[in-house]
Formats: sequence, C-alpha cells, structure tokens
Amino acid sequence: MVWNEVWTGDCLQLLEQVPTGSVDLAFADPPFNIGYEYDQYQDRRTKDDYLAWAEKWLAAVKRTLKPTGAIFVAIGDEYVAEHKVRMDALGLTLRNWVVWHYTFGVSCTKKFNRSHAHILYYVVDPKRFTFNADTVRVKSARLTEYADRRANPLGKLPDDTWYLRPQEADDHFRSSDDTWAVSRVCGTFHERTGHPCQMPEAVLERIIRVASNEGDVVLDPFAGSGTTLAVAKRLRRRFLGTELSAAYAEGVRERLRTVMPETSETKRPVKVSLPRGPGMTKSEPAGLRVRKPR
Ligand SMILES: C[S@@+](CC[C@H](N)C(=O)[O-])C[C@H]1O[C@@H](n2cnc3c(N)ncnc32)[C@H](O)[C@@H]1O
Repeated sequence: MVWNEVWTGDCLQLLEQVPTGSVDLAFADPPFNIGYEYDQYQDRRTKDDYLAWAEKWLAAVKRTLKPTGAIFVAIGDEYVAEHKVRMDALGLTLRNWVVWHYTFGVSCTKKFNRSHAHILYYVVDPKRFTFNADTVRVKSARLTEYADRRANPLGKLPDDTWYLRPQEADDHFRSSDDTWAVSRVCGTFHERTGHPCQMPEAVLERIIRVASNEGDVVLDPFAGSGTTLAVAKRLRRRFLGTELSAAYAEGVRERLRTVMPETSETKRPVKVSLPRGPGMTKSEPAGLRVRKPR
C-alpha cells in the first residue's frame, strides 16, 4: 500500500482499495446536507438518501481501522444524532462528543447564527487506543489562578468544548477549553486555500497529536482542501485522502507540496494564551498573577 497521497473519486469506491485494519486514525468532515456549494457534490439530498449514504461510508471507513484505531466525525446539528446512532450500531465506542465553537459562521436572518459543529470521537476498542494526553494539555485555573499545589504542573486535559477565536489563532486553544472554539477559516486567514469549508489546522492538530503517533496512518475520506493531510504530514504521520472533486484534489496536492514535516528545530511550541487584565504588561498576563488561595 502506498500512503501519502490524495486519490480523486468517490470515497466509497476508493476505500475498497485500502486494506482492512490498516488505518490508525480517521477524520471525516462530510458534507452536512445543508445546501453548501461545492464544485461537484450536490449538498441537498433527501434525508433518507443522505443517511443511507452516511451508513455506507461510515462502515467503509470502519473496515479500514486497526483494532486500536479511532475515528473523529465532524457534523452539524441537523444530522449529528443520526451519525451517532449509526456509529454505535457499527460497534464503535464513544469517547467524546466534542463541541467545536467557532466564530465567523454564516450570518442568519431568521434564527440565531450558526456557531458550532459537533465532533464525534469514537474508538474501535475502548481498552486499546492511542491517547497522547501530554501532547494536548492546557494550563488549568488551579495552576494559573490559585497556585494550588495539587495542580498538575503539566496542565490538565482540555474540556470537550473547544474554543479558538481568530484573534487567538496563533495560540490555538485557550487554557480553559474543552469546548473547541476555533474560528472557521476566513478569507483573510493565511492558511485559507479557497475551498468553501476548510477546517482550521488547529482543530486537526489537536486530534492528530492526541490520537496518533509519528509514522501512524491517518485517513480522510472527504479531503476537501487537505487540512487533515497537511497537518498529518507536518506531524510526521503517513496519510491518505480521497476527494470527489478533481479540482479540490489537485489543490490538496499543491498544498501538500508546501508542507514540511516538522523537526525538533521547527516544532511549534505548545502555546497557552491567558487572559490579560487591565494594566497588565505583556509579560504579566492576568492569568499568571498568583493569588493567594482563599
Ligand atoms: C466539508 S468538505 C471537507 C473539508 C475538509 N475537512 C477541509 O478541511 O478542507 C467535504 C468534501 O467532501 C467531498 N466529497 C463529497 N462527496 C464525496 C465522496 N463521495 N467521496 C469523496 N469526497 C466527497 C466534497 O467535494 C468536499 O470537498
């Protein structure tokens, strides 16, 4: 099997060529069936048709997973429950139902603006799976606010709601967040490729770091702009993507050509941004001021 490629075509057909039990981590961000404009895919199907298709691709991805494998599925409000039911039925085990809260969503006129998506995190075997806790820890309030000696100096695990706003884009996730708050990728962001619904690298970085190791195989059946594959390559994982649109797939190949696997010199430090209080200097963020425990 040759990895580190993006294949053009329908994932259902292409996944048949992927050996059973060969993938460590799958990330799938399928079309949400809400009328998004893609160049080829029609994102308005009947509910029955869309869900019958979801059942098929979920089963096809599950077949490729190793017994120690994991799958993350990003999905909107409309169909998250239906995807969960189908993943349960496949015998997968839910680890987290993550809420990714973003800003810069589509503005609505007759309902509240859309500002979150769901990420269902499942594993094949609840007793054997990769979870690199130390690679994604964030500083806890116990540590930064209360100088509590019981706090783990390495930080705590993030919550299951993830939050990252554009003004914090360089810092990715804030210290208190298990609600995944990452902005959508807006037109002005340097990572923007032109694909209509590109995921931010920060979200994929957290997922790939925690649920796979260097050299592992990461699969994305709906490659889109190639965010999963670009981050996988940077983090020195092997990868495979499938993408229906030839134009998008070509865009992914171009994007991948610009990505260098990180080395110990180029590795980005895990940054934790803390709130600043009034009158604080840059070197003294509010969250770091040690207060006496009451
Ligand atoms: C929500 S987008 C994925 C965005 C991606 N996560 C990113 O960060 O760029 C869904 C993608 O699935 C592709 N797609 C739709 N049906 C497909 C199929 N049957 N097989 C492979 N790709 C498909 C669409 O062309 C679209 O690019």
